[in-house]
Amino acid sequence: MSNRVIIFDTTLRDGEQAPGFSMTLDQKRVMARQLERLGVDVIEAGFPIASDGDFESVKAIAEELRETTIAGLARTTRKDIDRAWEALKRARKPRIHTFVATSDIHLKHKLNKSREEVLEMAVENVRYAKSLCDDVEFSPEDAVRTDLEYLCLVIESVIDAGANVVNIPDSVGYSIPDEFAAIIRTLREKVKNIDRAVMSVHCHNDLGLGVANSLAAIQAGARQVECTINGIGERAGNASLEELVMIMHTRKNLLSLECNVQTTEIYPSSQLLTHLTGMKVQRNKAIVGENAFAHEAGIHQDGMIKHRQTYEIMTPQSVGIPESTLVLGKHSGRHALDKRYKELGYDLSREDLNTAYEAFTALADKKKLVYDADLIAIVRDEISQIPEAYTFESLQVLSGSSLTPTASVRLRKGDEIFEDSAIGDGPVDATYKAIERITGVCGKLTHYAIEAVTIGKDAQGEVLIKLEYEGHSYNGQAVSTDIIEASAKAYLSALNRILYTRDHVR
Ligand code: KIV
Ligand code: ZN
Repeated sequence: MSNRVIIFDTTLRDGEQAPGFSMTLDQKRVMARQLERLGVDVIEAGFPIASDGDFESVKAIAEELRETTIAGLARTTRKDIDRAWEALKRARKPRIHTFVATSDIHLKHKLNKSREEVLEMAVENVRYAKSLCDDVEFSPEDAVRTDLEYLCLVIESVIDAGANVVNIPDSVGYSIPDEFAAIIRTLREKVKNIDRAVMSVHCHNDLGLGVANSLAAIQAGARQVECTINGIGERAGNASLEELVMIMHTRKNLLSLECNVQTTEIYPSSQLLTHLTGMKVQRNKAIVGENAFAHEAGIHQDGMIKHRQTYEIMTPQSVGIPESTLVLGKHSGRHALDKRYKELGYDLSREDLNTAYEAFTALADKKKLVYDADLIAIVRDEISQIPEAYTFESLQVLSGSSLTPTASVRLRKGDEIFEDSAIGDGPVDATYKAIERITGVCGKLTHYAIEAVTIGKDAQGEVLIKLEYEGHSYNGQAVSTDIIEASAKAYLSALNRILYTRDHVR
């Protein structure tokens, strides 16, 4: 058996469908280009029947990327498959990924169908998909909780009908490594035509075992793994791409597995996703978290100085983390800034570089030292991928222990300036009320967090918020050395997402 593992990235489909991770078409294109640079084999670009927005982004990505296979998801119905094919047909390497649930619990309560009916749907629609596209993947949803004999029958039948990839999802993250490996081994032993298809796995992380289960399956003979950047995905997410790839890379001595991923593109990919969605990974996240290569304890630091490998099993450089974190001062030029951004994984257009440079010089005037984290924050803040309906002009706040907090906000919309004031429980509340009065949009604030971007009293504060609006959740983030201003700008960035989605996506 080949030791090459196919990396199937579903950041733009399973990942993007999770609350808080929605992206616009342009953002998905930017992410897809980075995934191709990263070297994944397959990009699942979306679920074309789900919405016009999904359809357009799968189509745009399929038309643009030339190296990577582009997959589109479809249920086992002709309507879904036709829509997926319509979006995919101009891809150089298209794949239709069709799925239907096979566990009794899904059959009874969700589909209201018998096992025979589901088998027939699967076979008929795989055959139909194959008549349109050479590359067809089939997934029996909730495979882990499916009767194993029935699962073998379904898999054998869809391979006969033309599926060249059969994916075994642990859709609810229920399995444990030994059990999941045994399912893969049983399928390899019992399904007579299994050697005519690549066996794939797709593990959710509800019990924190997404990566462990995927690895166990690979060791049992699976040769495609479905995963996402930063492990994003439904509920607790999917198996994390960076963890799986770095396990194969770091423990090659034991596993002897290969994949096509350029490990130095991992960190830039993770940062880009954070930038596009406004969703940070936790500090201690393996591989890409802020603490992943930080050594705090004295004994550890001493060991590191004497010999790095005492406490470091892989280098930060191997995953693309730039070597130093201290960057530039107020005399640094545009060229140095551009070079640093490239090292951080941001290839800015001339226009974006000019915007970033202006923000950088303004910040360097306020702070002596500008760090990488400041530069990343500038990109996140200033170079929004979402067209801004309202832009921030100015803010005045009155607050104190014996004053009623009052905020006056000035916003711009096109050529018009709007101004209003409000009082509130605190300065942030007053500011948000004033913004609501101007824009007429009133979302529910469900999350507000503030943290210093770097060290020092002059550090910028980064505000991350979530607004709930008409059943959907929208992120906003912004940085400033003034935390009330950062709060106002974060609110505005979420609000601009709401307005953009309302007017262009839904
Ligand atoms: O979790 C799941 O079962 C899925 C399938 C569509 C592969 O996402
Ligand atoms: Zn899934």
